[in-house]
Amino acid sequence: MVKNNRWASLRAKKMPVSMFNTMDAAKVEAQRKGLEIIDLSVGSSDLPAPPAAMEALRAATYRSETHGYCLHSGTQPLRQAAAGWFEERYGGNLDPERNVMVLIGSQEGFAHLLLAITDPGDVILAPDPGYPSYFGAIALAGLELAPLPLLEENGFLPDLSTVPVDVARKARVMVLAYPNNPTAAVASAAFFQEVITFCQNHDIFLIHDFPYVDMVYGDYQAPSVLAQPGAMDIAVELYSCSKSYHMGGFRIGWAAGNADAIAALNQVKSAIDFNQYPGIQQAAIAAINQPRAETRRAARVFESRRDVLVMALNQVGWETRLPQASMYVWTRLPVGLDDSFEFTVNLARETGICLAPGRGFGPRGEGFVRFALVREPEALERAVERIQRFWGS
Ligand SMILES: Cc1ncc(COP(=O)(O)O)c(C=O)c1O
Repeated sequence: MVKNNRWASLRAKKMPVSMFNTMDAAKVEAQRKGLEIIDLSVGSSDLPAPPAAMEALRAATYRSETHGYCLHSGTQPLRQAAAGWFEERYGGNLDPERNVMVLIGSQEGFAHLLLAITDPGDVILAPDPGYPSYFGAIALAGLELAPLPLLEENGFLPDLSTVPVDVARKARVMVLAYPNNPTAAVASAAFFQEVITFCQNHDIFLIHDFPYVDMVYGDYQAPSVLAQPGAMDIAVELYSCSKSYHMGGFRIGWAAGNADAIAALNQVKSAIDFNQYPGIQQAAIAAINQPRAETRRAARVFESRRDVLVMALNQVGWETRLPQASMYVWTRLPVGLDDSFEFTVNLARETGICLAPGRGFGPRGEGFVRFALVREPEALERAVERIQRFWGS
């Protein structure tokens, strides 16, 4: 809390306070009561990083040339690996020098990209509900938020025809993320083409946050914005090793796309950080180069958890749809309830089951809760049983 803090800047004071802090306190209360905690509130994968990544990191720590500062040129091997990955996956041609930038996670990349390509007072079109750190980064950059409502009746895709003409004219940036957090919705290549045309017509830069590219189920493959015609002129896509390779704690990802935006991002980052530790970059290269079957195998673990959870929820009368991607299940609150924050805090306190309240992702998230599929199927079934008892009482 920095509201009444003597030393906090106006900028810091304007940043939204996370609801997850209150959830955390409720979890501690449940722990004190001796309840088993099943924490499905945070999307942090419980699977291990790929063995090849761990081995690459282990070996790197013993090489003293990895111990110093890492200048931009030192990130070249990872930039090359990322460009190669994109070419193999989507057929596009990225210049590792001009079109790729190593990030300390896509969250870091998003916040710094806003500082790099906008000025205070610029308008940003951002999804509501959306990943909470977007709103902090938007406040940090001093931007004016124009929400893009993600409504269930539109498959949680924004309806661009409803963006007021004056807002579209003023907007400088749009951010989207599909497969989506929190709604687990997916977008088609045709939808991305529509978005690109809209951005071209209104001179808007498009940031596509793409950490769930590999968290896909069945035959579904997530299209890339960057692979669409015209995207390289107006877009950057943010990639992460946190979800694809279960390396959230390693803090590594990359940005790819428009060369001017990448150069501006490089400029801003050079005043702020010295790039990620080279050993972690080598771990990322090993992960990127692992056989695709390995990445798919891990995604199938989440797919079977999705099946178990959605079936259990429907069996107790909580109507919930099967998502095609992401590591989340997003569903309306049980019938008769309308306050997601009250529901999830009381649930955590009384049962030890922690879910993310929809409202924590923006006003349009109210009325929903998000389950992160970060525990084994038996724990998900136990969670549903305990939720049912709590809700029944
Ligand atoms: C949409 C979205 N963007 C970014 C992130 C953060 O990714 P990273 O660990 O690469 O910073 C997350 C993490 O949950 C996310 O859901």
